Amino acid sequence: MKRKHFLQTILGASIGANLPKSIDLFDTNSHKQLLKSVEKPVDGSMYGFADMAINKVKVGIIGCGNRGKSLIEMFPYLIEKGYTEIVALCDIRQEHCNKAAEKLSKYQGTKPQLYGKNENDWQQLVKQDNVDLVLICTPWRWHTPMALYGMEHGKHVACEVPIAYTMEDCWKLVETAEKTRRHCIMIENCCYNDEELWLLNMVQQGVFGDITHTEGAYLHDLRAHLLSEDYYEGQWRLMQHKERDGNFYTTHGLGPCSMYLDIGRGDRYDHLTSMSSRELNLSETAKKQGSNHTNITCGDLNTTMIKTAKGKSIMLQFDVHTGRPYSRINKLVGTQAVHDGYPSKLYVDNGELIYWGHKWLEPNEYEAYKDKYRHPMIKRLKSISDNFKQGHGGMDFVMMYRLIRCLNLGLPLDLNVYDGVMWSAITPLSELSVASKSASVDVPDFTGGLWEKHAEIEIMRDI
Ligand SMILES: NC(=O)c1ccc[n+]([C@@H]2O[C@H](COP(=O)([O-])OP(=O)(O)OC[C@H]3O[C@@H](n4cnc5c(N)ncnc54)[C@H](O)[C@@H]3O)[C@@H](O)[C@H]2O)c1
Repeated sequence: MKRKHFLQTILGASIGANLPKSIDLFDTNSHKQLLKSVEKPVDGSMYGFADMAINKVKVGIIGCGNRGKSLIEMFPYLIEKGYTEIVALCDIRQEHCNKAAEKLSKYQGTKPQLYGKNENDWQQLVKQDNVDLVLICTPWRWHTPMALYGMEHGKHVACEVPIAYTMEDCWKLVETAEKTRRHCIMIENCCYNDEELWLLNMVQQGVFGDITHTEGAYLHDLRAHLLSEDYYEGQWRLMQHKERDGNFYTTHGLGPCSMYLDIGRGDRYDHLTSMSSRELNLSETAKKQGSNHTNITCGDLNTTMIKTAKGKSIMLQFDVHTGRPYSRINKLVGTQAVHDGYPSKLYVDNGELIYWGHKWLEPNEYEAYKDKYRHPMIKRLKSISDNFKQGHGGMDFVMMYRLIRCLNLGLPLDLNVYDGVMWSAITPLSELSVASKSASVDVPDFTGGLWEKHAEIEIMRDI
């Protein structure tokens, strides 16, 4: 089915060779080798897309709340090395902007330009001449408009998760990236976690055999955050739970699972079905707190099952209402091994058929796999920067390092616009299925068939 017509069919909604030229930035021979291995881009698509190398990436950050401020903390090493400079900050809450600038002043001599005098002032940041990369850390409703505007004004964009939550916006992002030839990356930090990269490396090295199934999730008790009057600006996140029902935060679980399954690089999501439980926990907590926000639409636990074109299955869960320890599940099932997360444990099948007694690997055996298959960049980044420990156990720093270095070196980014859009589109499709008694919903192919041709897993490159 032609991709643009897909939505009209299922939702009735309206939808809307560039190898790096400058290579004077390579600081090691391995980087020169790396460039040679970069796949030639497919005309018109953003697969393999690389732009001119940018000696020092000038960053403008929109949204200096919880996330914007914590991402600034990933920059000191990169600033010190001369790889990047934060040249602009924007927030409609002046105190957030000022606090972010104050934080930055500890790491950077030059002062950023500050914006935020009204809710559209971010457009001035985008237009600031020297901004190369716009980093978007705002509430969800701004993600797509800001990303589109950034690309249309010649800037690369990196956007927090999810990059979109309507199908229309997903299509607009793909079309705009293809038209403007600008990077549009959804910065999914969980793809950069030590455990997830270790599993991906083992998948690549054949430890799991052929993959049949994965499970991912975002299980995080956010009741205190959601109901707080000042944690999220204007309680924007709670409003989503009052108005919608489905899986709103797909990407932390689905990003890594999609990498294990070669989604967009040999496989793609074909269809899904989604079901939400009744809602109790958030509204009951709101009542106990005397809050007015007791009408919650989103069920406590959403489960979405996705089937891929190559017959693999994914179970994805979302629950931010229930009191429980954090988990992204991170289960991976293959013909030769199984992994279960939280806490991480590995089973390797030795091919022997036994009736009982299947056991997870003993700690020493598990550690041997951990050592042998740890992603090479994790080993290296641990040794080059103390900052490695920062941000969700280190993954935020690895993510930011990779983004800035790929831009410095004129390499394709680890994740492309299709990845961000595919992972985000599961949200509106889950809502559609939930609203239709869990009916099976087809997932459109945002890549125009190129998922079958592109095989490079960029995140496995060691830079
Ligand atoms: N990847 C992760 O681990 C992770 C963690 C936390 C949050 N996030 C994502 O980061 C984003 C921000 O979340 P948060 O927790 O920082 O929320 P927040 O409410 O703390 O911060 C959002 C900020 O954006 C500002 N803002 C709102 N509208 C604006 C506009 N028009 N122009 C400029 N600034 C504007 C607000 O004033 C606020 O300071 C969300 O998309 C969230 O999903 C990701």
